[in-house]
Amino acid sequence: MLALVTGAAKGIGRAITLELARNGFDVAINYNHSAESAESLCVEARTLGVQAETFRADVSIHDEAARMFAEARASLGTVSVLVNNAGITRDTLLMRMKPEDWQAVLNTNLTSCFYCTQIAIKDMAKARYGRIINIASVVGLIGNAGQCNYSASKAGIIGFTKSVAREYAGRGITANAIAPGFIDTGMTDILKPEVKEAILRTIPVGRIGSPQEVAKAAAFFAREDSSYITGQVLAVDGGMTMV
Ligand SMILES: NC(=O)c1ccc[n+]([C@@H]2O[C@H](COP(=O)([O-])OP(=O)(O)OC[C@H]3O[C@@H](n4cnc5c(N)ncnc54)[C@H](O)[C@@H]3O)[C@@H](O)[C@H]2O)c1
Repeated sequence: MLALVTGAAKGIGRAITLELARNGFDVAINYNHSAESAESLCVEARTLGVQAETFRADVSIHDEAARMFAEARASLGTVSVLVNNAGITRDTLLMRMKPEDWQAVLNTNLTSCFYCTQIAIKDMAKARYGRIINIASVVGLIGNAGQCNYSASKAGIIGFTKSVAREYAGRGITANAIAPGFIDTGMTDILKPEVKEAILRTIPVGRIGSPQEVAKAAAFFAREDSSYITGQVLAVDGGMTMV
């Protein structure tokens, strides 16, 4: 079975790709700029005994996403598991946010999910089987000052996931979202120490999460026997958003 992970070269996407390979999935590794990291990930995945290939595409551009799926299909077969993981931040307060900061984040984080899901789901519907896993965020649930673009994109992913889940529930396709909290990747590395400290105080578990901890949740949703779970949002956040 083939899994395609967007934005897979680094961070959470990389951990998900390796965890899926460990679980026996062939992996299609999408990257945009990080060719070297994608290649090293590909080599590592192959050592786990599965097929792996890299595919360069900016998934916020429809034609590039479509070309990537066509290439993956030609070399590895049809995609059974899609992980929409590619994401960016352009943090600033609402009053300072430029239209291009808004649009870039919405295009990369949310519109890419629409493009990739719409393309991938054609083969899934034919096969009457599929797993869509969308990487949202806790800020899509609770918001965050300085991230109105990012939190809107992640809340959008949650609504999108639930609608896809309802549309395709009768065809063996599940769609679920993961809402990571504060995870140790390049995205959070850039935060100022005082911001990191403030976030840490809001996490009951008392520490930052690892990409592997998110990857375990993705592997669960990717499994065949998660078939009765769809339209859910699983927070992997050390208890940050518990109610
Ligand atoms: N790190 C966290 O604390 C955290 C928390 C919640 C959600 N997330 C989400 O997890 C996902 C992965 O983030 P990460 O923390 O690993 O960050 P990261 O910056 O390490 O990884 C993001 C990846 O997406 C890729 N990407 C960006 N734009 C792309 C595009 N247009 N086309 C293809 N690839 C593109 C980047 O090149 C990068 O490899 C993102 O959706 C992010 O929003 C992260």
